[in-house]
Amino acid sequence: MRIVVAGSSGLIGNELVTSLRGDGHEVTRLVRRQPTKADESQWDPGRGQIDDAVLRGVGAVINLCGAGIGDKRWSGAYKQALRDSRLTTTDVLAHAVAEAGVPVLVNGSAVGFYGDTGDRIVDEQSPSGAGFLSALCRDWEAATTPASKAGARVVSLRTATVLSPTGGMLGKLRPLFSLGLGGRLGSGRQYLSWISLPDEVAAIEFALTHDDVSGPVDLCAPEPVTNAHFTSAMGRALHRPTPWIVPGFAVKALIGEFAEEAVLTGQRAVPKVLTDAGFQFRHRTVEDALSYAITR
Ligand SMILES: NC(=O)c1ccc[n+]([C@@H]2O[C@H](COP(=O)([O-])OP(=O)(O)OC[C@H]3O[C@@H](n4cnc5c(N)ncnc54)[C@H](OP(=O)(O)O)[C@@H]3O)[C@@H](O)[C@H]2O)c1
Repeated sequence: MRIVVAGSSGLIGNELVTSLRGDGHEVTRLVRRQPTKADESQWDPGRGQIDDAVLRGVGAVINLCGAGIGDKRWSGAYKQALRDSRLTTTDVLAHAVAEAGVPVLVNGSAVGFYGDTGDRIVDEQSPSGAGFLSALCRDWEAATTPASKAGARVVSLRTATVLSPTGGMLGKLRPLFSLGLGGRLGSGRQYLSWISLPDEVAAIEFALTHDDVSGPVDLCAPEPVTNAHFTSAMGRALHRPTPWIVPGFAVKALIGEFAEEAVLTGQRAVPKVLTDAGFQFRHRTVEDALSYAITR
């Protein structure tokens, strides 16, 4: 299949493109910079510019764009950048998919859609929550509407925290834990929904190639864990103690509003759509995923 991927230079996109090509798909990357390779096509989502020709005869568009949620302190300007980088890109691609008659749009979203769920289990049938990230995810998913209205099969990837050997959350935490500075954050009772990078990529390809999968899809392993559980598992994987408890007020002082929405609170999401459709996870427990990510 011919596939166009936006946001392909990131943690997930890079791995996904390699996997798609390995499986025989022909991939064109949409890039915001000057193209340097024959398989790249320039677009400017802020100006609504995309080369119409690039979508002609394409079997699917995958959109993984978005400025890093935890990369900077959430100033008003950065929150706007978080929204623009997701909503504008989705809007441009959803309209382009509609106009070109592309049959499938696989678009980013996140389990942040559910807000803080406490210890309540949520799946794709559950309502959205409160807060900046929930509103962002709702608007992000709604921005795909032009594509679904035109008859495309639209999948919204409600991705959980991706556990990868390089980058992402583990890239930030690993140096601290390796120095024996790892510890529970706040009460430690907040849930973390997570997925290993190989499962994230396999689940995107699964959604891409299964015509019966559409709408929101939770991309998370079947066993979310509490922060306290995750902290101990990290310590064991790295053979380091995790004696510390970082109080909630200190986490908030250090990273601001992001702490209240994504670090001291969380989601206990489960992958109902994927499980019902027969997707097989390679890493079902956080111990399996950490062992893969840390020993690689
Ligand atoms: N990794 C996770 O744990 C996780 C969890 C939940 C949801 N997600 C979502 O999954 C998607 C991919 O995640 P990722 O971890 O691969 O992200 P990433 O490594 O930060 O890459 C995101 C991509 O978005 C594009 N991008 C960055 N800033 C942008 C901007 N201002 N405007 C337009 N595009 C911009 C870049 O692509 P180009 O430079 O090639 O254009 C970049 O490669 C994101 O939407 C993210 O929110 C990820």
